[in-house]
Amino acid sequence: VIDVLGPQGDGIHKSTDGPVYVERALPGEKIVASIQRGSGGALRGEITQITTPSPDRIAAPCAHYTVCGGCTLQHATDDLYRAWKLDIVRTALSKVDLEPKVWLEPTYLEPGTRRRVTFAAFKSAKAVTLGYFRRRSHNVTEIANCLVADSGIMELRTTLAPLLVPILQGGKPAEVFIQSVNGLHDVVITGAVGAKGVPDAKVYAAATAIIQNAKVSRISWRAGETNEPEVLLEASPIHANFGALRVPLPPLAFLQPTALGEKALSDAVMSALPEKGKFADLFSGCGTFSGPMLERGTVDAFENNESAIQALNKARAAKPLNPVKRDLFRNPLQPDEFKKYDAVVFDPPRAGAAEQVKILAQSKVRRVIGVSCNPNTFARDARVLVDGGYTFDSIKVVDQFTWSHHVELVAVFTKSKP
Ligand SMILES: C[S@@+](CC[C@H](N)C(=O)[O-])C[C@H]1O[C@@H](n2cnc3c(N)ncnc32)[C@H](O)[C@@H]1O
Repeated sequence: VIDVLGPQGDGIHKSTDGPVYVERALPGEKIVASIQRGSGGALRGEITQITTPSPDRIAAPCAHYTVCGGCTLQHATDDLYRAWKLDIVRTALSKVDLEPKVWLEPTYLEPGTRRRVTFAAFKSAKAVTLGYFRRRSHNVTEIANCLVADSGIMELRTTLAPLLVPILQGGKPAEVFIQSVNGLHDVVITGAVGAKGVPDAKVYAAATAIIQNAKVSRISWRAGETNEPEVLLEASPIHANFGALRVPLPPLAFLQPTALGEKALSDAVMSALPEKGKFADLFSGCGTFSGPMLERGTVDAFENNESAIQALNKARAAKPLNPVKRDLFRNPLQPDEFKKYDAVVFDPPRAGAAEQVKILAQSKVRRVIGVSCNPNTFARDARVLVDGGYTFDSIKVVDQFTWSHHVELVAVFTKSKP
């Protein structure tokens, strides 16, 4: 019997030998499963038969669901799925004994809106497959129709695959990242290309063919994930508009995964931001929040990524924007530096902002707004803010990672008596 749905989307049976994690099982279901101890020591069950299905079980809408490792929870009704997403956040907060005063109405994004997709690429027998990894495997499987991704990206995938044949090396795994911004497509290839693993004349010729024959505005390349991408060819620069801020985006620029999700997050940040003042945007990226924040005052945008800072320096802004390159893990803002701000926004990577939040918690900044894609590290950081005297006013869940176990949130904290 499946007792609960875990935060990774597995159904969990609480056995006397410990929890058994069963992929694609739902709470209340009676199933027959074969059980093995996984590499990490956890017990993992594989469904062989569903004896009593949950009333919330539905047929997954995607034809690739059985083979694709992309989505986690398509086999449940919207009601169950949505409650589970909220529960992931609620459980993370309850582990640190926190509860916001208000749970704002969550926003759930429709599928088909994901504007950044990384395809696994594999070349064999003079053909390129652009797909996703198979479930529980490192083999690339062709995904002709991903319901999560923007349809323009999926069309481009079909056009792009044969045009990549002269670029990629046979038998070597590679990745192709496509980002769609205001109708323009930015493509970044990661992996060995050309005869010797790096761009050569043939690669440049093929990149030219891509710009001419596919709807691609810029194509870039990097050898591996730790390398900075270099532009092979750019037909037109790609800009993002954040409020009145117009930013020329570097290749692989971080954007929120959906335009509507960005709007929901931005609206939530702005509804908690004072009407005017001086603000800090920590982990600013290319200015998703700095842009709208500039409409209410001046903004210092702190970020460690050099190309994001360069983009912000080149951005067209109506009001004073001060981009600062700074590693906020190793060199967080100090108590004195917080004195000038009326509000601080922080939106760290999945690891959270432990070092920075320790200092922020002791500050006199009246309003702190946290944005996070990891409820566990967020909960840890929120606990530190509350222990430092902040009240936890509200939380809003924005589900822009449809059918996955990922979830985004915006939280508001106030210190009335510093
Ligand atoms: C979740 S993204 C948010 C970006 C931006 N707020 C947005 O919504 O587009 C996190 C950002 O933190 C930056 N970052 C990662 N580690 C950092 C560090 N140690 N110090 C400062 N920024 C860092 C990343 O480069 C990335 O831009």
